[in-house]
Amino acid sequence: MAVSVAVLSGGRSSEHDVSVASAASVASGLRTAGYEAATIDVGRDGVWRQAGEVLLLAPGRGLPGHDVVFPALHGPFGEDGTVQGLLECLDVPYVGAGVLASAACMHKVLFKELMAQAGLPQVDYRAVREADHRADPDAVAREVGGLGLPVFVKPVRLGSSVGIVRVAAKDELGPALDTAFEHDALAIVEAAAVGREIECSVIGNDDPLASEPGEILLAAGENGWYDYEAKYSPGGMALVVPARIPPHVSERVRELAVEAFVRSGCAGLARVDFFVVDEEVLINELNTMPGFTETSVFGSLFAASGVPYPELLDRLVTFALERHAAERSHRF
Ligand SMILES: Nc1ncnc2c1ncn2[C@@H]1O[C@H](COP(=O)(O)OP(=O)(O)O)[C@@H](O)[C@H]1O
Ligand SMILES: [Mg+2]
Repeated sequence: MAVSVAVLSGGRSSEHDVSVASAASVASGLRTAGYEAATIDVGRDGVWRQAGEVLLLAPGRGLPGHDVVFPALHGPFGEDGTVQGLLECLDVPYVGAGVLASAACMHKVLFKELMAQAGLPQVDYRAVREADHRADPDAVAREVGGLGLPVFVKPVRLGSSVGIVRVAAKDELGPALDTAFEHDALAIVEAAAVGREIECSVIGNDDPLASEPGEILLAAGENGWYDYEAKYSPGGMALVVPARIPPHVSERVRELAVEAFVRSGCAGLARVDFFVVDEEVLINELNTMPGFTETSVFGSLFAASGVPYPELLDRLVTFALERHAAERSHRF
């Protein structure tokens, strides 16, 4: 009998619609690869439904009818360790990073601190707590002033550029922080990297494999950045593979992608995003469940590296089964 995969679709975050698109593609690609695939709809209210019926779950009982789960969920309550914790309690194999790596990579400050610890190059940044900003905004402005202008202000745990503001003038900082604090009580302010945006996909468990890096070209041009509109409106961006960087820089990107994957304790897959400024490679972020349609950057980079979409999915399911078996072989 074919292995049955439950694909989680939707979720509670503002990336719900992105996830629905990812999940539909994943389910169809899995069928092409010879799997049985069923979609489980996770509502914006957090309720799980299969074929319209509310799903009741029992810890330790797996996900009845399915051998493995593909949580094609992005952002909070999906990519941040929460759903991964639920899947651990159910005791079902699932694709992608576990609880700790999911949570750590979702958190932009924690992730940067982990990377700094490992000596990986990145932009200069400051963390700003909402309570500190409310108490003394001038002190926060002075502290952040050291980063120069422009800066990028972000809530620490979101994706798809939601809640991010590029600040080009001093008096824009306060409103930008207010926007970030609508989403989270902690914000990160980053010095701007002026260069190319390069992305690299990684798959594997113990022996991760990096794809050919690709470059994001924005329709918006010079002062534009990779905001929600550029990401999801037709023609907003183009992916160029291979990236227009020298081979040794491309090799450095792949090395750092694998290093970031290992250092953050990832499993299964990740897309690691960089800024390349002249020939300097700075790590921006690591997504443990990147956009996953057949034409998304993650799959396109592997397709360009000789791993077509259905085969990519097949490998990811295999990594999930292997990791579950390996983890259950430990004494705990
Ligand atoms: N420090 C920075 N320097 C230059 N551009 C940035 C910086 N931080 C973010 N950006 C721009 O904002 C986009 C989204 O930021 P990112 O941290 O990747 O958030 P998300 O997790 O929402 O994708 C980036 O792809 C880039 O275009
Ligand atoms: Mg990003």
